Amino acid sequence: MPDTITSESNTSTGSVDLASPVALGTWTDPVMPAPLEQHTLAEVRVAEGILPPTSEADWSLPAGPRIHVDHAGATPRVLLHNGETDTVLPALWLRARSPDPSQRDVITGQRLMNPHLLPDDLSLLDARIDARGLQLAFSDGFSGHFDPAELIAGAVLDEGCPAPLPWQADLAPQPWYGWGDLSDDGVLHRALRDYIERGFLLLHGTPTQADSILTIARRFGFVRETNFGSFFEVYSRPDSTDLAYRPVALGPHTDNPYRNPVPGIQLLHCLQNETSGGLSTLVDSLAVAQQLQQEDPEGFALLASVPVRYEYRDADTWLVAVQPMIELTGKGAMMGVFYSPRLDDIPLMSDADTRAYHRARKRFGTLLSDPRFELRFRLEPGQLMMFDNNRVLHGRTSFDPSEGHRQLQGCYIDRDSPRSLYRVLSRRLGAAVA
Ligand SMILES: [Fe+2]
Repeated sequence: MPDTITSESNTSTGSVDLASPVALGTWTDPVMPAPLEQHTLAEVRVAEGILPPTSEADWSLPAGPRIHVDHAGATPRVLLHNGETDTVLPALWLRARSPDPSQRDVITGQRLMNPHLLPDDLSLLDARIDARGLQLAFSDGFSGHFDPAELIAGAVLDEGCPAPLPWQADLAPQPWYGWGDLSDDGVLHRALRDYIERGFLLLHGTPTQADSILTIARRFGFVRETNFGSFFEVYSRPDSTDLAYRPVALGPHTDNPYRNPVPGIQLLHCLQNETSGGLSTLVDSLAVAQQLQQEDPEGFALLASVPVRYEYRDADTWLVAVQPMIELTGKGAMMGVFYSPRLDDIPLMSDADTRAYHRARKRFGTLLSDPRFELRFRLEPGQLMMFDNNRVLHGRTSFDPSEGHRQLQGCYIDRDSPRSLYRVLSRRLGAAVA
């Protein structure tokens, strides 16, 4: 491998020998940095398996998507090879992704041109792999370099975060982390990966001052203030406006399905627990919905399509949201649920449709309460659980307030912040982005 720089800034003077110390006048520094092995972008992308080597005889690439150019036809084609499939990257799609400073702001990375203004008949005139990556020329006169890794990321819609891993009651180990350990970026990165994969995180050793939950929440994102305030207390209050403030058992549910948007992440922080009951429960809706879909695909489809009305009222607030109980992405992938049997009202349907929906909802509710899907544990003072409010349902067993104090505090943060932090730490730590 060459150990010379061949980047644009050095092309006018040829290569630079990094092994030779650079004269620094009278400055005497006995410690020179070790010579770095420098590679062109194309060499790096070959090593990563993103570009093919220049010699087909050397073809031995790691698994994963890669870019190659086909010159067999009248015009060149850029192809994404992924598994057994080759996908043509259209000229319009490629052209809009130009990183050239004339097309995209170099600081923000945001596009400077409007892709809808490109010619309808735009075509690719030339495509070559060179020392800087992928050189493309288009019929509108534009030509420039493209980073194959960025094209692959755009093609496979890689969000830079690991995929969710559904879990059941036998999940082991559970994602417990010490609050003090999260000051280490590596530990925080692992905790965030666990959170993204499992949809929840458990912390111990947290501070237990009256508003410590806000300090903890701000380690992961921005606090979402609601009509309940920036955080809320969960303890027994006979005159409360929500059943969460009574000592009754709470079945698995998601919070605030009547909001738009719904709070993405909830933190529940234990400050005192002198009761023998009040055990906390968590259930992964992804695992439960998978089971329902296997048993009853039509019932699953009903819960994912019929709009349900969720409502909250008190003296100063009247919130209403209408959305299906099961939340899917545009591609049909399961995101989570809006589930609170105390709050949901189904629309007026025919008697037959109402009965069909009833059967699906009953089976879903039964599965959500099935012990094989439930984690059940006691939160001690200084312990906290943070969970995706749509994916992981939470609940608690009943408790007897005459046994002693039980005080938890809760607050919400948005869903995107921990994922953003995970990507930033991945970049900073040089970790492979899942
Ligand atoms: Fe709740």
